[in-house]
Amino acid sequence: MPRLYHLGLSEREIAGAQIALLPGDPARVEKIARMAERGRFVASHREFCTWLGHIKDRPVVITSTGIGGPSTAIAVEELAQLGVRIFLRVGTTGALQHHINMGDVVITTGAVRLDGASAHYAPIEYPAVADYNLVWALVEAAQRLKIPYHVGVTCSSATFYPGQERSDSFSQYIIRDLRGTKSEWQRLGVLNYEMEAATLLTMCSTLGLRAGCVCGVVDTPTQEQITPESLQRAEIHAIQVAVQATEIFLDKQL
Ligand code: URA
Repeated sequence: MPRLYHLGLSEREIAGAQIALLPGDPARVEKIARMAERGRFVASHREFCTWLGHIKDRPVVITSTGIGGPSTAIAVEELAQLGVRIFLRVGTTGALQHHINMGDVVITTGAVRLDGASAHYAPIEYPAVADYNLVWALVEAAQRLKIPYHVGVTCSSATFYPGQERSDSFSQYIIRDLRGTKSEWQRLGVLNYEMEAATLLTMCSTLGLRAGCVCGVVDTPTQEQITPESLQRAEIHAIQVAVQATEIFLDKQL
């Protein structure tokens, strides 16, 4: 098989990896790979940076998806063509509920499909749900690591600013259809905003692939500003939980 266009990867280079860890940020790829064994750089093209590592002696590919559904869908499509079957997003997120604190992690069971890209895989009535065993492994990992965690529904927005009704946007204008949506998601118990889970979960379950999502909290309803400190703490917690969950997943042959 030739080198795939967007990821710049060939089948040989991912060494038979069946599991992928998927951060959005290319800079997070190396951080994850360094927490696995024998991490090494493989390829970098556009927003897609790939390293290969080993967990429990099994090859694991770590690839950045970039921000949002369209680039996430490309990464998953091409990794699946190379033989990957299990996908775990390792992201950052904004909390919607007041009981969630900076640095906590959110483990997604299902996602509100405001991403756009998932509609190219299934009609909007189709639910964006995570693989049960991956959710279980993520919960078990957070418990073992004593990292505060929350399990539930995530809202995946196609945009960071208007779709999440952020007050720090350029125009601060929100179109009518989106006005009031943040308080509605809060009222409906949605835990958090991010931008990739709905695409990942929908496309994986429709394609016969398995997917999960863990995100570290970088902003909250009372602190919208993302600081380097909040980002670092959230990132490290999400990575630790994802790597430990992968170990559990492989150990228990889930
Ligand atoms: N990612 C998002 O999409 N929203 C946030 O508030 C933080 C990270």
